[in-house]
Amino acid sequence: MPIRSSPESVRSNQAKYAELQRKRELSQAPAGAEAITAQHRRGKRTARERVEALVDEKSFIELDRFAVHRTTAFGLGEREFLGDGVVTGRATIDGRQVFLFSQDFTVLGGSLGEVFAEKICKVMDLALRTGSPIVGINDSGGARIQEGVVSLGGYAEIFWRNVQASGVIPQISLVAGPCAGGAVYSPAITDFIIMTEGIGQMFITGPEIIKTVTGEEVTFEELGGATTHATKSGVAHLVASDEDDMSELAKTLLSYLPQNNMDDPPRFACNDDPERLVNELDGVIPESPNKPYDMHAVIGPVLDDGDFFEIQPLYAPNIITGFGRVNGQSVGIVANQPNVLAGVLDIKSSIKAARFVRFCDAFNIPLVTFVDVPGFLPGTAQEYGGIITHGAKLLYAFAEATVPKVTVITRKAYGGAYDVMASKHIRADVNVAWPTAEIAVMGAESAVKTIFKRELAAAKDKDAKMQELVEDYRERFDNPFIAAERGYVDDVVEAHMTRRVIAKSLEMLANKRVERPKRKHGNIPL
Ligand code: HXC
Repeated sequence: MPIRSSPESVRSNQAKYAELQRKRELSQAPAGAEAITAQHRRGKRTARERVEALVDEKSFIELDRFAVHRTTAFGLGEREFLGDGVVTGRATIDGRQVFLFSQDFTVLGGSLGEVFAEKICKVMDLALRTGSPIVGINDSGGARIQEGVVSLGGYAEIFWRNVQASGVIPQISLVAGPCAGGAVYSPAITDFIIMTEGIGQMFITGPEIIKTVTGEEVTFEELGGATTHATKSGVAHLVASDEDDMSELAKTLLSYLPQNNMDDPPRFACNDDPERLVNELDGVIPESPNKPYDMHAVIGPVLDDGDFFEIQPLYAPNIITGFGRVNGQSVGIVANQPNVLAGVLDIKSSIKAARFVRFCDAFNIPLVTFVDVPGFLPGTAQEYGGIITHGAKLLYAFAEATVPKVTVITRKAYGGAYDVMASKHIRADVNVAWPTAEIAVMGAESAVKTIFKRELAAAKDKDAKMQELVEDYRERFDNPFIAAERGYVDDVVEAHMTRRVIAKSLEMLANKRVERPKRKHGNIPL
């Protein structure tokens, strides 16, 4: 039977539709137009504008736009804000599904109460259930004071979900406003934090409390601004110069990542010949082993179209981490940087690289490691700071990673750092060295001073003796061939062959499968 539409019901429904539309419009600016103007005056976009800037046009489907708080304390019974201060929903970015939340500072300073937390939990649950990344935009005064312990409970519910989602779906935090107190722990558990210069701030306790407790005077920006966290603490992975840049960085980052841990990263059509010879690499290594060079000059030209997306570029720059593509396939790059501290491993660089390696392993991103490392940084500051434990993190991370692992030794691979930097012994799949590689227990000078102490003391011309012994040592040990004789490196290749070797190796390893022993989880030296 055909459905008959009665004019009365159309009229009555139209009134309801109009009411729905009125409420929808109200939800667009729940704290009123003035609050939006104030947000713009602070130099910040609104929560909705941020979502729009990030996602594909017309792809955003909002959830819970009519949700309101349930509090009556401190006058909140008289103040109702549709959406309760956070915009949540689903959208696509470059055609791929993501879930999002964007905190609305115009509503009670973006503070988090019970309903606000429930909304975030709902999108987190959906993201996990559908195997989609979650992106959170943070701009909040923290726990909603009027809601007391209920808001603390709400935070903890979010933290718990962050942990459940860790290693299952990519989690990305954008910080475009205050993010204070315990609120920082949700971003801290996520995989990447992008902070926006000038407006994003993260800290556990603010300047006022710090002054009371320790007497230190510090501004908000010095304490927890983007530059501070990108250079000093390492909390921020990327710094965006403004909100447009923040969206662009998030999109670029997502382009390297799979939707979830069961998925592979998207493969892009590649117009850059994977067999391409990189002739400029033949001149990168200086003649003197003590002269530095910039490892970026190796990484960029090897990757498709020279595109390298560096992660934590300003923190512990003696190690380089980031994403690129080889033959259209995402790879995670870890590389010592001879230009900074001669590329030594220290506490910060070990932690930085270990976390990156674990991320790549969790999300099926093959690891390409470039090695030029003179060893671990000596000194009491390092020893007292626990370099033993922290250096072991990187060793552990490389050893447990089961994604394809390709290692290229460009120059030095000395001592324990040789083992740590994705050596064959901790199960890298393909290890190659350039003819300029020096694979040894330590550098020639130190080695000679240690094993020929007596001979040097007895020599009439100490300098000549030293030079003779160093040359002899270099000839015998400072080259890749002893390692090659034993199969510790699979091949010695000209520098210009590097891209070809990596591409072929990744092709060979495409179906790599490794079973790990059954256990609840390992015990990485945290
Ligand atoms: C309720 C809050 C709020 C909060 C801000 N507001 N923070 N409301 N709970 N936590 C409200 C303000 O009352 C004001 O409301 C509006 O948001 C804007 O705040 P302003 O102070 O006018 O803005 P601004 O000058 O830009 O300063 C922003 C700020 C500051 C730096 C975030 O508001 C601030 O310091 N807030 C308190 C931060 C804090 O201590 N939070 C608790 C942290 S502890 P009206 O109605 O006037 O517009 C925590 C524990 C979490 O979060 C634990 C989890 C485990």
